[in-house]
Formats: sequence, structure tokens, C-alpha cells
Amino acid sequence: MDFLNYQFKKLPLPLNLQYHMSNIQRIGLMTSGGDSPGMNAAIRAIVRTAIYEGLQPFGIYRGYQGMIEGQIKALQTTDVSNSIHRGGTILKTARSKEFMTEEGMKKAYEQLKKHDIDALVMIGGDGTFRGAVEFFKRFDIPAIGLPGTIDNDLNGTDFTIGFDTAVNTAIQAIDKIRDTADSHDRVFIVEVMGRDAGYIALYSGIACGAEHIFIPEKAESLDMIIDHIQDDQLRKKLTNIIVVAEGDEFGGAQELSRLLLAKIPGLETRVTILGHVQRGGAPTCNDRLLSSRLGYAAVQALLAGKKNEMAGLINGEICFTPFNHCVKTRKPFPDDMMQIVHVLTK
Ligand code: F6P
Repeated sequence: MDFLNYQFKKLPLPLNLQYHMSNIQRIGLMTSGGDSPGMNAAIRAIVRTAIYEGLQPFGIYRGYQGMIEGQIKALQTTDVSNSIHRGGTILKTARSKEFMTEEGMKKAYEQLKKHDIDALVMIGGDGTFRGAVEFFKRFDIPAIGLPGTIDNDLNGTDFTIGFDTAVNTAIQAIDKIRDTADSHDRVFIVEVMGRDAGYIALYSGIACGAEHIFIPEKAESLDMIIDHIQDDQLRKKLTNIIVVAEGDEFGGAQELSRLLLAKIPGLETRVTILGHVQRGGAPTCNDRLLSSRLGYAAVQALLAGKKNEMAGLINGEICFTPFNHCVKTRKPFPDDMMQIVHVLTK
């Protein structure tokens, strides 16, 4: 088969399209922004659902930047074999500055037209949906988004693809840190990812019994934490685990350690920054299931005529939320979970 010509040729209308009455034949799919474990499982679900429905899926490589540059290739069912258990994204990803310009968006749209792409499925986080809001104000092409970010900071879904895996990775690391912290009676400050979001810090902190959690969503009084640590020292509770999101108000783990050392004479601290290890690894069962359900739902939604909405899971049910609502406001933070931290660690 002449591969290049095959990509550009419109496919004959498959039989099952007659049932869903949609004009969509060629779906472009891409991952964008920071990768997250489970993206491959979502790609697999989209590709296989599309093919099952008689559509031709096309991979758009390297997110919006690849869209601008026309890095677009037809995908077959075997292209996603052996991928459900792999972290990262087989479609690659990028954070594109060019896409946020008028010229960049125009180039991207022209590439979609050139490849006869009728509809899009994009998997990404906050930046991806902000880009989508601007793009679809200007160009009319149906699209469904999937929430793919370890940060879990999108409205319209209880959980994002990759969050569960990232939290479990953080938990494994913090459990190990507690072993050594306890042996040495030390205060450990562990920095987890989340420039603007504290979900990884909150969930991993509670799950590991962290004594204190610092997150961007909620200002903490440093004096109060200092009192707690000194109190703990008086009652000979010398091990403390502090989990801090990278974007918290004090500026991350190093800075927090410096502030504590300045205020508590003789305190011994150690800092661990978990970093990008949280973005990799095999997705958990929860992430694989979420990806598979949302990927399937995205294709079905396009065929049912939905557009410019993100598929998410709320209370276990698939829901759709317009792109601009997903990013317009900060996702409501579960304050009640913060309340229990101090009670459970006393
Ligand atoms: O994808 C989300 C995220 O991991 C954030 O938690 C983090 O702040 C950021 O991406 C890091 O981005 P980069 O890999 O581009 O440095």
C-alpha cells in the first residue's frame, strides 16, 4: 500500500456509520502538555473504538506543536498493541508556545484540513484545555477532550488520568523515607509535584500519615507549624514528615527547610524532591480503567454530535463539561480532607 497517499485519501463510508448518522470519518488524536501515566491506555481505547466504529484514527505527534507542523499519521489497531501498561505517551507530547499565537493556530487548522481530519480527541491538562478554548473560538471542528494530567486540577472530573499512579508513586517513596526518618528521629520535607495544585501533596500526605501538608490552595501559618514541631519535640515525637507541593506559598521544600531551621534551633531536617519520577511508570488499575472508559466515551460522544467538551468521571459516571468550564475556575479543593491531617497524626 502507498502509505502517504493512503493517509490523505478519504475512506469510503463504512457500513456502521450509517447507524450513527455522523459525517465524521477521520479522527485526529493527540496528547499535550505534561505526560501522565494512562495516556497510552486512553490512546489505545480511542484508536480501537474508532476502528470498531469504522472510523480512521490519526495520531497527531507532539501535541499542538506537532499539529502545527503536520506530524500526523494514520494509526492501525496494532500501533497500540502492548501499550496499555506503559507510562509516557506513544504519541509524544510538548508544550507549544507557538500554538498560543494567531499564526500558530491558523497553521494548525490548515494542517487538520490538509489531512481531512473531521474531529479531534485531545488528552491533556490545564494548558491543553486553555489552548483548546482559544482554538475552537476561531475554528469549527468537533473535539472532545480527556483529562490527562497528574495534577488532578481540572473541573469536570473527580480524577484525571495519571493522578492515581502519581500519588501511588509518591506514597511508595514517602513510606521508604519514613523508615529512615524514624530511624534517625529526623524531620523530612518531601516535595511532590504540583505547581498550582496540591492534590498529589494532599492525597499522598494523608495516605502516608504526614504530620504537615503544604499546598498552593491553602495558606498555612508557619508559626503554627513551628509550634506543632516544638510541641512534638517536647513529647519526644521526633520524626516528622512534611509533604509540600512544589508550588506552595513558601516556595517548595528547600525554602521551607531553610525557614524552619532559622526558627527552631537544633532541628535536623532533610529534603527530598521527588520530581519527574512521579510522571512515569506503569499506570495503576484505576488509571487504566479511567483511560479506557473515557477513551471509549470520547469517540461515542463525537459520533453522537457532541463537541468542545471534556469527558470526565463524576461520582463514577461519565460526564461532559464544556472546555471553558474545565479551566475557568480553580477546581474546588476538598478542605475537609485538610482538616483531618492534624487530628490523625496527633
Ligand atoms: O504535568 C503537570 C506537571 O507535572 C506539574 O505538576 C509540574 O509542575 C509540571 O508539570 C512540570 O512541568 P515540566 O515537566 O514541563 O517541567
